[in-house]
Amino acid sequence: DIAAGGSGPLSGRRALVTAGPTYEPIDPVRFIGNHSSGKQGFAVASALAMLGAEVTLVSGPVSLPTPPHVRRIDVGTAQEMLSACESLLPVDIAVCVAAVSDWRVDHVATDKLKKTAGVLPALSLVENPDILATLSATGPRRPALVVGFAAETHDMIRHAVEKFARKGCDWLLANSVGGGSGTFGGDRNTVTLLTGSMTEAWAEMSKIQVAQNLASRIALHFRDRA
Ligand code: CTP
Ligand code: CA
Repeated sequence: DIAAGGSGPLSGRRALVTAGPTYEPIDPVRFIGNHSSGKQGFAVASALAMLGAEVTLVSGPVSLPTPPHVRRIDVGTAQEMLSACESLLPVDIAVCVAAVSDWRVDHVATDKLKKTAGVLPALSLVENPDILATLSATGPRRPALVVGFAAETHDMIRHAVEKFARKGCDWLLANSVGGGSGTFGGDRNTVTLLTGSMTEAWAEMSKIQVAQNLASRIALHFRDRA
């Protein structure tokens, strides 16, 4: 269904949101992937649409319903996710929430690899494109506001600050994963927002609330720019 592009502070703004994992095939039945329920990304798409933005959600394999008034493109791999995002440009807002697989197998087997006792398949990996960094690169089609998420298991702020510099995005929401709040598949998250000018730790809250806070921030950003 076509985005409503309804009334609200973000009406007339186009947004793309990536969500979920990517699956990188090894053979017709096996893949390399990340843990990701897609809940945080779907909540961001929903919250932006509720503020009137025209939202397209580029989603890896998840089992979640499409939020109201959101257009959805389903993809499998990181390369497909990047192509789908590029086909949507220009947009005003890009929020990359997907847990993209950093690597893919460079030669995907056409037939199922057969298990032979004691013989291990040698998988040779290549790096996937970085969708957030690609969208953040300077150019005529760069979105006005590019937001990333950073999943860290340890030294969250130090890694997030480095990642923020490396990616070239405008804002980064860092969250700690792998225990307690922020657990994969859970409904709650504890994030810290980094912008160029400030670092702001948010209290633990639901992923829906994180998404709504982020969407309000985005609306304020465009209001102040106007
Ligand atoms: N991301 C992306 N494309 C990739 C890898 C990551 O768009 N190929 C985005 C994610 O959607 C997220 C941000 O980059 O918004 C950070 O992802 P993360 O995995 O935390 O960072 P990496 O740079 O991949 O570093 P590492 O996995 O080593 O922590
Ligand atoms: Ca990664």
